[in-house]
Amino acid sequence: MLQGKHILLGITGSIAAYKAAMLCRLLRVAGAEVKVVMTPTAKEFITPVTMATLSKNPIAVEFYNPENGDWHSHISMGEWADCYLIAPATANTIAKMAYGIADNLLLTTYLSARCQTVVAPAMDCDMFCHEATQENLAKLRERGVVILESPEGELASGLMGKGRMMEPEQIVEAIDNIFKAEQTLAGKRVMVTAGATIEAIDPVRYISNHSTGKMGYAIAEELAKRGAEVVLVSGKTALQTPQGVRRVDVCSAEDMYEASVEEFEACDCAVMCAAVADYTPVEVATTKIKKSDDSFTIELRKTKDIAFELGKVKGSRKIVGFALETDNEQVNAEEKLRKKNLDMIVLNSLRDEGAGFGYDTNKVSFIEASKREELPLLPKSEVAKRIADKIEKLFF
Ligand code: C5P
Repeated sequence: MLQGKHILLGITGSIAAYKAAMLCRLLRVAGAEVKVVMTPTAKEFITPVTMATLSKNPIAVEFYNPENGDWHSHISMGEWADCYLIAPATANTIAKMAYGIADNLLLTTYLSARCQTVVAPAMDCDMFCHEATQENLAKLRERGVVILESPEGELASGLMGKGRMMEPEQIVEAIDNIFKAEQTLAGKRVMVTAGATIEAIDPVRYISNHSTGKMGYAIAEELAKRGAEVVLVSGKTALQTPQGVRRVDVCSAEDMYEASVEEFEACDCAVMCAAVADYTPVEVATTKIKKSDDSFTIELRKTKDIAFELGKVKGSRKIVGFALETDNEQVNAEEKLRKKNLDMIVLNSLRDEGAGFGYDTNKVSFIEASKREELPLLPKSEVAKRIADKIEKLFF
């Protein structure tokens, strides 16, 4: 389960920090990508050089690099991570997490991370058993943080008792199990269409649009992370195929129609995110069209509406469509929902700063037969998660 997963490893100032080296190594051996954030005290226990070498990534400790002013963005680290593992976690860090104190990069990252946070406590037994620590751990647990068991045994102080950090091998197993439990779409097959289609005019020119495919690719990635078998029918894009996704490249609207009809046969759901050309040239010149008159006319004919065609044959399968409207958004989207026999429409807004083509953020609303839900401006990866949540609800 750890193959390709992004693990953000937070290290705090505990003697157990030496085990973070082995932990990092084991995570990498299991196929995960690891980035490390350390508290300033953690550096006293294990060096950033060790962790940078093992993780193959630079270490983040301060809010910025004092030598060149480079900002370490706790937001982007939180966004990157599929899991934020704080191991070892001291009583001090646990208390600060419980109360939302944000006086170092590890803590600000905790406050901004949207992924699962996992804490492996490591401290002396008296500190561990203290009511204050236990209350803080209970608070974090209530908030959904996974608290790993602190086994009983010999402690660095020479005392015996609870408070040891869980062994790295067991931590890796626990993380693996967390990812397994997140496989909420295991057994489902989903087709996602994404990117822009290309309609040839002649061997040199074409008609296309500004779609980059970012939204569709983020959705495909998120669905695959949740265990779905994902096929991505992709038009023009510069993006890399997400981990675990099968990609079928197409060019024109007609190509996309044919590939989509074929792929949808074996699918339980389709997410129609592609920006498909509505019209295509009636004739495609076989040689480059010469420049001659002042004006030039291309006759266009309508392409097939893939979502509409799939909607006709979907049966009990689910289809999520997208709509990009510049006026009368709600009414038009609702009309599209009905006409194309879709289960939900994701309505894109072009009105908001940061939403639409090429941006890494998006502002959308979900339109269903009986309700409308408006989301704030969010990173496309987060919008993809909300869409995946909705797809889960359509199924179950
Ligand atoms: O009608 P409109 O193009 O606004 O509908 C948008 C939705 O329909 C999107 O989900 C888009 O992917 C899909 N669509 C399609 N085939 C077309 C045109 C749009 O699947 N030819």
